[in-house]
Amino acid sequence: MEWDPVQYLKFADERLRPGFDLLARIGELTRGPIIELGCGTGVHTRAIAARWPDHAVTGFDLSAEMLGQASREPSRIRWQQGDIASWHAEERQALVFSNATLQWVDDHAQLMPRLMRHLAAGGVLAIQMPRNFSAPSHVLMREVAAAGPWAERLAPLLRHDPVADPEAYYDMLAPLGRGGIDFWETEYLHILAGPADGESPVLAWTRGTALRPLLEPLTAAERRDFAARYDAALKAAYPRRTDGKTLLPFRRLFMIARA
Ligand SMILES: C[S@@+](CC[C@H](N)C(=O)[O-])C[C@H]1O[C@@H](n2cnc3c(N)ncnc32)[C@H](O)[C@@H]1O
Repeated sequence: MEWDPVQYLKFADERLRPGFDLLARIGELTRGPIIELGCGTGVHTRAIAARWPDHAVTGFDLSAEMLGQASREPSRIRWQQGDIASWHAEERQALVFSNATLQWVDDHAQLMPRLMRHLAAGGVLAIQMPRNFSAPSHVLMREVAAAGPWAERLAPLLRHDPVADPEAYYDMLAPLGRGGIDFWETEYLHILAGPADGESPVLAWTRGTALRPLLEPLTAAERRDFAARYDAALKAAYPRRTDGKTLLPFRRLFMIARA
């Protein structure tokens, strides 16, 4: 799937805040390199590099578009393209950080222990993932995908439960998180404005993330049709408030485990 940094950063404050909230809960680090998996445009990677100036820092991402944006600003960060599903590092890490990314990677029961085993003694795994797949924004997207002439083409692309319950992650991480585990969930209430074209801002929000892989295989006419059906459903589910803005409740799961 291709990412569009401009579309993604249309809601930069809302999208980036959880990563900074995660970062704020990470304490002292042991020696060793740091990697951000799914670094996107590198905003958190740069904050990490500034906070831990003595650690080597790598920003790792599959998307050439996102890495292109990340590396535009000169820094000491090493930018590396690759797939988290096959990521491996020889050196044990002081910090593996991942914000709003691992929901795109399958098989968490295998992934989480693998990431923990990459940590140095006392190293930290810090993860934030959305846990809003039963929210109207996602349910309605799946309904439109299943009801149109595109249903057969889109069926294999639908991700139903990419993020498990917190209890499942606790069981995956606790045996390896000997230095302690910190888990919490937050439901942000994003206040979205616009856009000027009258579309629901929730449509503009999902265009930057979950909607992208579903629109990709469609023709231009199908994309317009899909967006119109989805937009109508979103406007009913997320009505504009009296000041014209739209509230988007968004639940996110945070996990910090220390080896
Ligand atoms: C929603 S963005 C989050 C970007 C950044 N962490 C942030 O908070 O702004 C998800 C990022 O994960 C990357 N990504 C998705 N699947 C990946 C994979 N299997 N391996 C590496 N990167 C991946 C995408 O390219 C994208 O940059």
